[in-house]
Amino acid sequence: MSKKMALVTGGGGGLGAAICERADALGYRVVVVDQNLESARAVSQRLSEGRAEQLDVTREADVEALFERLGEVPDVLVNNAGIGRFGPLMDMSLANFTEVLNVNLIACYVVARACARGMQRRGSGNIVNITSLNSVTPGPGSGAYPASKAGLARLTEQMALEWGPLGIRVNAVAPGFIDSGISTPFYANPAVRELRSKAVPIRRLGTAEDVANAVMFLAGPEAAYINGHELVVDGGVFCSVLMQLPREPSKN
Ligand SMILES: NC(=O)c1ccc[n+]([C@@H]2O[C@H](COP(=O)([O-])OP(=O)(O)OC[C@H]3O[C@@H](n4cnc5c(N)ncnc54)[C@H](O)[C@@H]3O)[C@@H](O)[C@H]2O)c1
Repeated sequence: MSKKMALVTGGGGGLGAAICERADALGYRVVVVDQNLESARAVSQRLSEGRAEQLDVTREADVEALFERLGEVPDVLVNNAGIGRFGPLMDMSLANFTEVLNVNLIACYVVARACARGMQRRGSGNIVNITSLNSVTPGPGSGAYPASKAGLARLTEQMALEWGPLGIRVNAVAPGFIDSGISTPFYANPAVRELRSKAVPIRRLGTAEDVANAVMFLAGPEAAYINGHELVVDGGVFCSVLMQLPREPSKN
């Protein structure tokens, strides 16, 4: 039997590379898609059967052309490419705001739709969208990012609802404080690392591998009955909000 195929957008980045490597370890052929061809190539060369493809996910015609060029339909699609443009909402340019929505939300729809059409013909497929802890809660100076990820979370559910009957499962992974990719410069500051690590109930930052494991679990057969779910991978940060607030010690 031929190997299954996984396609990962933003595969040249921190989390994307780990997702590609996890898929490779599970025996998938991996298409590493990124607007940065050099980083996509660097990742694909580390894989046993990797292929690098340059694509700007916001360009609809290029997205359609990529799926035609592949000549086959991926078994797994991971919508991972994403960007942040941080700063106070009051000062945010509309161009920045729109760019974030275009990459993090609209492009995920465009890529998923192009892929799902092929999955529909085959009668099977798995899609995992990478959201964020910011899809369930806003963050300081996060601009359009939380809105884009919240939109992607709801889009995940909409896809799951409409495409489930076609044999396509759609889920999301919401990474928390991850020491990789876009957060690398942030955690280069030891004080921030320490404060953030202490705020996590399991007392450490997450790794790209923590996220990749969750993604490939949702994409795999062990998650066969999971559809429309957003799996928060944050070491318990989201459920610890009351721990951050002052409270008198209990008398009994
Ligand atoms: N690292 C974190 O702490 C963290 C936390 C929560 C969510 N996320 C999400 O994880 C995903 C991956 O982020 P990362 O941390 O690995 O960042 P990263 O910057 O290392 O990787 C993102 C990749 O996406 C690519 N990309 C950006 N715009 C693109 C476009 N228009 N077309 C094609 N490729 C494009 C970039 O070239 C890059 O390789 C993103 O969706 C991000 O929002 C990351």
